[in-house]
Amino acid sequence: MPFLRLALRHARASRVVSSRGFATTRTLGLPGSGEAIEAQALTFSEFGDPQKVLRLTPHKIKRSAISTGNSLLLRTLAAPVNPADINVVQGTYGALPRFIPSAFGRNVESVEPPVAIPGNEGVFEVLEAGVDVDKEQYAPGDWVLPVGSGYGTWRTHVLTTSSDTKLWKIPSYIRNSRGLTVMQAATATVNPLTALKLLHTFGANAGDWVLQNGANSAVGRLVIQLAKLNDIKTLNVVRERETPRETEQLRGALQALGADVVVTDSQLGRELAQILKDVSGGKGAKLMFDCVGGSAATSLAKSLNPDGKVITYGAMSKKPMMPGAGMLIFKGITFEGFWVSKWGERFPRRKKESLEYLLNQMASGNLQMGATAPVPWRGDELRLVDTVGLTLEGKRRGKSVFVFPDDGELDKPSFGLDAQLGKAVVEIGHNERPEGEK
Ligand SMILES: NC(=O)c1ccc[n+]([C@@H]2O[C@H](COP(=O)([O-])OP(=O)(O)OC[C@H]3O[C@@H](n4cnc5c(N)ncnc54)[C@H](OP(=O)(O)O)[C@@H]3O)[C@@H](O)[C@H]2O)c1
Repeated sequence: MPFLRLALRHARASRVVSSRGFATTRTLGLPGSGEAIEAQALTFSEFGDPQKVLRLTPHKIKRSAISTGNSLLLRTLAAPVNPADINVVQGTYGALPRFIPSAFGRNVESVEPPVAIPGNEGVFEVLEAGVDVDKEQYAPGDWVLPVGSGYGTWRTHVLTTSSDTKLWKIPSYIRNSRGLTVMQAATATVNPLTALKLLHTFGANAGDWVLQNGANSAVGRLVIQLAKLNDIKTLNVVRERETPRETEQLRGALQALGADVVVTDSQLGRELAQILKDVSGGKGAKLMFDCVGGSAATSLAKSLNPDGKVITYGAMSKKPMMPGAGMLIFKGITFEGFWVSKWGERFPRRKKESLEYLLNQMASGNLQMGATAPVPWRGDELRLVDTVGLTLEGKRRGKSVFVFPDDGELDKPSFGLDAQLGKAVVEIGHNERPEGEK
């Protein structure tokens, strides 16, 4: 019933627009002089299809709650839409939030039915700090990252306190002397950390060959670059594009990042095994990173040396790997999983050290973040929800990132939008609407 679905979706959107009006950029960025800040969040109150369960929920943050004690008012600068965020909304992720009436904070109006706020990654700016907050710890203008998982970043503002252990202030020197951008900071805590830890934790050494699939993903691109910085060789598998020209463009883009070899999934099997043998001078590979699963991952794993190791960190195909008995018994291939959230909980200090290293590498231009598709948060529910709902569809043009600019901010270099792609994909939510829904 596409028509009914369309009608319901538009009814939902217009309800929000007519009752609240579109949020202006000024409302998002500045507290204003009224008694309360008009804040917004994408929320859900049950698990399911993001396009059905996500709602734009306006709420007020009273000014009286902001400047007191050790309170901290943050505004969101940018927050990406990662595959894991969608799995959280679907209810299929390894860690799921609780639905609570006080999801917007202790001193903010409660909400019925109870909700959760998705979004695991992003960057906030301190707007105001309470009278008791040590200015060395937090001051207006500081940038802050959520370092605990499930923080809930798809919202315009956060009212919290300076003792919030799930936040970490980006050291000022990285911003001041190196010129870190909003987009770099917003995408630092999940994928770069995962790529770094995959390479560190599973013993990839200089001169080794590492196989990976999903090489065009944000994690895959970062694995390529971090491997290059450490003289580790990568053989990368991507999905074939619509045309040979597009496939060549993708291959070129990954090679420009430092990929040693880029093959497509159509080359898996004997052809890939021969390529690996040739490029590695017969040495082969003993480590593989898998974020795809299914028969393609199983096939790639067959190219590993005896006693090789497969590290699964994602399952984009939603299909399991099916290693044959021979692979397990005769070749001794082992399979392990890696989850950066769990690693971060076990090693919180090392997590911050690693983040500082990665932010420095990004700000110095040694790590490229890959294509991003900025989606300005203008308070129109339909477009925001579509952005989330369509993120896992089709071949990837760039990671959707909600951006929350103040007047004129998007054009500043400090925001870090890719000049070409940024302009082209700003309307991604509209461009990629399913056929028939205009
Ligand atoms: N375990 C952890 O700690 C951890 C941490 C971070 C991320 N992850 C996981 O890592 C994966 C990648 O995340 P990301 O944020 O880097 O992704 P991303 O940038 O959003 O890109 C998704 C990638 O998945 C590929 N893909 C989508 N559907 C596919 C399919 N059916 N078969 C093969 N490839 C497919 C896309 O290929 P195209 O380029 O061809 O479109 C794209 O390159 C996700 O599964 C995510 O949950 C895990």
